[in-house]
Amino acid sequence: MTAIETEPASPTAEVVLEARDLVKDFAGRRRGLRRERMRAVDQVSLQLRRGEVTALVGQSGSGKSTVGRLLAQLLPPTSGQILLHGTPVAATSGRAFIRYTGAVQMTLQDPFASLNPVHRVDHVLGRALAIHGRARGRDQVHEQSLALLEKVELTPPERYLHRFPHELSGGERQRISFARALAAQPQVLLADEPVSMLDVTIRKEMLDLLDSLRRSENLAVLYITHDLGSARAYSSRTLVMYHGVVVERGSSAAVIDDPQHEYTRRLLAAAPNPRRRLAG
Ligand SMILES: Nc1ncnc2c1ncn2[C@@H]1O[C@H](COP(=O)(O)OP(=O)(O)OP(=O)(O)O)[C@@H](O)[C@H]1O
Ligand SMILES: [Mg+2]
Repeated sequence: MTAIETEPASPTAEVVLEARDLVKDFAGRRRGLRRERMRAVDQVSLQLRRGEVTALVGQSGSGKSTVGRLLAQLLPPTSGQILLHGTPVAATSGRAFIRYTGAVQMTLQDPFASLNPVHRVDHVLGRALAIHGRARGRDQVHEQSLALLEKVELTPPERYLHRFPHELSGGERQRISFARALAAQPQVLLADEPVSMLDVTIRKEMLDLLDSLRRSENLAVLYITHDLGSARAYSSRTLVMYHGVVVERGSSAAVIDDPQHEYTRRLLAAAPNPRRRLAG
């Protein structure tokens, strides 16, 4: 199925990561002796460009996180291709997977679940720096960990190094997730619902941080959200997913201010005030 192209992109920035016709089937419910197949992602194609935020929106269960996990190579696709700088990425494991994650990082939807409760912040960041070979020796690891904390505006950084996840607020945990992703010095950041678990009052500062990281690190960002208002405010392009299919795509202004697809219209009608810049 071809998505409605509301307004074509201005193809200026370099494409870093591309998905072509990605399909993901899961084993569904059992029916007698047979198990149904469930197509969570259906022929999804997208391009992530350097220094640009692309939003992936859709209701719960539409397949957004599955697209993120396919792009992060946390799941093998049923079919379709992923290309990094134009080169197809083969099914990766071991060292090749670590190399891939050096370029493509994902922060998970639930920062509570994604940080191991028994590890302090210094362990989390030190391990990420070591895995990607970004720091050697204790002094370098210490220095770089402090720099990462400053990047995500946890200051003074020394105050956070020895904390356990339960000693951090939800917002601080999300910042640690960003810092851990940045430890790899990635080119692509797949941010799965980075603010949906947070209090509305701190959503804006978290998205402002993501935006400033995008600029300072020149990141290609996939911003996964069900919040159309923040997609409008923080992304240049928006893709709308419905039952695994991208039904509409285009500049965020065009898609959200003047949606063409029936489903996008319904999604907008269900949102409190999607044309607001962003509440709170
Ligand atoms: N590992 C899995 N095994 C079986 N089904 C799965 C698996 N992961 C996801 N699904 C199913 O695939 C569909 C898409 O799920 P996905 O998590 O990608 O949706 P989503 O758009 O991210 O939803 P939400 O907004 O709630 O996070 C859902 O029906 C879900 O139940
Ligand atoms: Mg999800």
